[in-house]
Amino acid sequence: MSQMLEFDEAAARSLEAMYLTPDVAGQRARVLEMLAPKPGERILDVGVGPGLLAQDIARLVGDAGRVAGLDMAPAMITMARTRLAALPQAECVTGDAAALEFADGAFDAAVSTQVYEYVADMPKALGELRRVLRPGGRALILDTDWRSVVWHSSDEARMARVLTCWDDHLADPHLPAKLGRLLARAGFQTIRVEIVPMLAAQWQPVSYAAGIMRTIHGFARGNGARHGLSADEVQGWYDDQLRLIERGEFFFSVNRYAFLAVR
Ligand SMILES: C[S@@+](CC[C@H](N)C(=O)[O-])C[C@H]1O[C@@H](n2cnc3c(N)ncnc32)[C@H](O)[C@@H]1O
Repeated sequence: MSQMLEFDEAAARSLEAMYLTPDVAGQRARVLEMLAPKPGERILDVGVGPGLLAQDIARLVGDAGRVAGLDMAPAMITMARTRLAALPQAECVTGDAAALEFADGAFDAAVSTQVYEYVADMPKALGELRRVLRPGGRALILDTDWRSVVWHSSDEARMARVLTCWDDHLADPHLPAKLGRLLARAGFQTIRVEIVPMLAAQWQPVSYAAGIMRTIHGFARGNGARHGLSADEVQGWYDDQLRLIERGEFFFSVNRYAFLAVR
């Protein structure tokens, strides 16, 4: 059974810091290039989070367009509303990706980055996504496959146990491999799939890798026992990474997969 992350105020702040790093800004640029929002379009951001992507989209659709950001976490909605306050074409609502409270065909396009991997009932969520898009509307979905991690460690077996524990924060840590089929079953036609890597070939204190290392450390401290990981073992894993950083031997990479589909 998965032990989901709680997207409370503290989590919202650390997610925002991680998503402001150049790595994740680069990911947003790739997503925007694939989604290609046009002036006047109505676009839905499912799982809007801190609102960084919705802010970029709102500027691109302009005054004549509309951006709706939806998230199930009130702390995320508060943060996204603050960020989007000066953009009247954007609004944020609390809600569930699997039960969208929007009219049929309400949007020209929809985007969802790092969200569907948290959603248990994907056929229902994609059915909802299709319903709220107009015929011919675009959907851009990006998620991580956590099997794609390459992370240097002095103890590979311990690293594998920590990553297995981390898998537990999602409903499906391997969603991308199944997404093409799920989209087809929901009535979408996938027209483009791309890898968006997060790579840290060396340590950078302000980076996605640094943020995810801290997040995994916190998660494994709280949930390691369910996977037979003692507190000492989790700390040993973290201290090993600090030693590798000191020696200039840090290496981390993981792949996101971006699917562009049409209704
Ligand atoms: C990792 S964050 C990604 C945020 C944002 N999409 C981005 O890329 O900046 C995941 C977000 O999905 C939201 N979320 C998770 N499950 C959800 C669901 N079933 N419905 C709506 N939002 C959900 C969380 O509250 C969180 O804000």
